[in-house]
Amino acid sequence: MIEIDKLVSEDGAYVSREIFGDADIHKLEMKQVFGRSWLFLAHETQLPDSQDYLTTFMGEDPVIVIRQEDGTLKAFLNACTHRGPLLCASEEGNATNFTCPYHGWVFGSSGDLLDVPHEGSSGWHNELNKERHGLKPIRVESYKGLYFGNFDEQAPSLDDYLGDYKWYVDAIFSPLPTGVEFLGGPMRQRLQCNWKVASENIFADTYHVFAAHGQAARICMEGKEGGIGIEENDDKEGDALGVAVTVNGHSMGLHFDGMGAYVLNKNMAEWMAYLGSQRENYIKHLGPRRGMMPGSSINGGIFPNFMFVPGFTFRQIHPLGPNECEIWMWTVVEKDMPLELKHEQVKANARMLGTSGLFETDDCANMERIDNTVSAYQGSKLISNYSMGLGREQKRDDLPGLTDQRMSDTGFRGYYRRWALFMKADKSSDIPLDAPRSIEGAE
Ligand code: FES
Ligand SMILES: [Fe+2]
Repeated sequence: MIEIDKLVSEDGAYVSREIFGDADIHKLEMKQVFGRSWLFLAHETQLPDSQDYLTTFMGEDPVIVIRQEDGTLKAFLNACTHRGPLLCASEEGNATNFTCPYHGWVFGSSGDLLDVPHEGSSGWHNELNKERHGLKPIRVESYKGLYFGNFDEQAPSLDDYLGDYKWYVDAIFSPLPTGVEFLGGPMRQRLQCNWKVASENIFADTYHVFAAHGQAARICMEGKEGGIGIEENDDKEGDALGVAVTVNGHSMGLHFDGMGAYVLNKNMAEWMAYLGSQRENYIKHLGPRRGMMPGSSINGGIFPNFMFVPGFTFRQIHPLGPNECEIWMWTVVEKDMPLELKHEQVKANARMLGTSGLFETDDCANMERIDNTVSAYQGSKLISNYSMGLGREQKRDDLPGLTDQRMSDTGFRGYYRRWALFMKADKSSDIPLDAPRSIEGAE
C-alpha cells in the first residue's frame, strides 16, 4: 500500500525522493495521474490539413492524432485492435488509412476498421464484427489551438481543468488574434531521470538559473547591458521581483518586463524592434497588463507534463519507466512574426535549450545527478525541500491564482499538492479544482 500522505507534505513543501524512482509509485502514476489528466497532444498548426496525422504519447501509451475531414481532431490508441502492434510507426504525415504491418487490417482516419484480409470463406467466414474493432478513441478537447487528450470520460472539461490559468495561457498561445505556430517536428532526447524531475525544472525552478546556468548566461550576455531580470537584488520590491503563480497544479513564473525572453539572443535589437512594433497590438488584444507578457521572462507549464519558456523552449516530458524520460521540444513563434525572425528563433532555441544547447546541458547534467542519488536506497529515503517562500503566498486582486514573488517554490508546491490529490483520489470528481475568481482589473 502506497501512502501518499507520507510522501508529500500537506503543503507540498516536502517531498520524499521515493517518488522519483520507485517502480510501484510509477505504475500508480500511470493510472492515477496520466489516466485522468488532460495531456497535450498537438497544436492546431501541426495538423493543418484533412487527414494530417502525428503520433505521440499519453503517459507511456502510444497515441495517434488525426485531422478529420470535418476539421476536428480525433485521437486513438496507436495499437492494432487485432493483436496489439503499434499501428503507425511514422512520426507524422498525411494518410487516408493505416494498415497494420502484422496481418494487414486497415483502419480509416476516423478510426473505423475498414478492411480485413481473408474476411470471407477463406478465413473469417464473414463472422468478424468490424464495427467492434475500430481503434480505441480518446476524449479530445482544445483551448486556443492546443489539443489535449484525456483517458477519463469522467474528468472535468479542459476548460475547468485549466480554470483561471487560462488567463495566462491566452497571453502565451494567443498573444495576437492570429495566434502562434509550432514549427517543425519536435527535437527529442532521452534522459536518465524521472519525468517529474525534468518537468519541475521548467515548471517552477527560477532558483537554479544563476548557479546552473551562470557561465552560459555570462557568455550570452557578453557585450550587452543589463541582466536577465531575476538577479539577486534585495533592494527590488513589488512586481520588479516578478510573480510566481499556481492554479490547479499549473504553474508560472513571470515578469512583465516585455524583454526578458530575448535578452540572451544574439541580435537582441532586432527582437526589441519587433516587440516594440507589436506592443500596441498585444495590449489591444490582451489588455494593458497581459499585453506586457509577450517578450517577458516567463516559465511555466500545464500539469502534469507540458511546459514552456517562451523565447527558449516549449516541451513535453514523456515518462519511460521510473528512471527515464523523453523530452520533446518545439519552437513556437507568433504567426505574424517576420520569416527571418522565425528562423532566428529556431536557431536560438537550438543554441540555448536544444538537445545540445548551452543551457540544456547544464539542466540535464543536474537532472541525471538527481537520478544518481534518488534511485539508490539510502538516497531515496531523503526529503526534497520546496519550502522557499512557504506561507507568503497570497490571492491578489489583480492576478489569477495563488501568487508569491517569482523567486519562490510556490509553483512546485502547487504541482506536488496536485500530484498527491491525483494519486490519492478514487475518481476524478474527488479531485477538487481551485474555485475560479473574478479578478478586478485583470481584463
Ligand atoms: S495484429 Fe494487426 S492485423 Fe493482426
Ligand atoms: Fe535551466
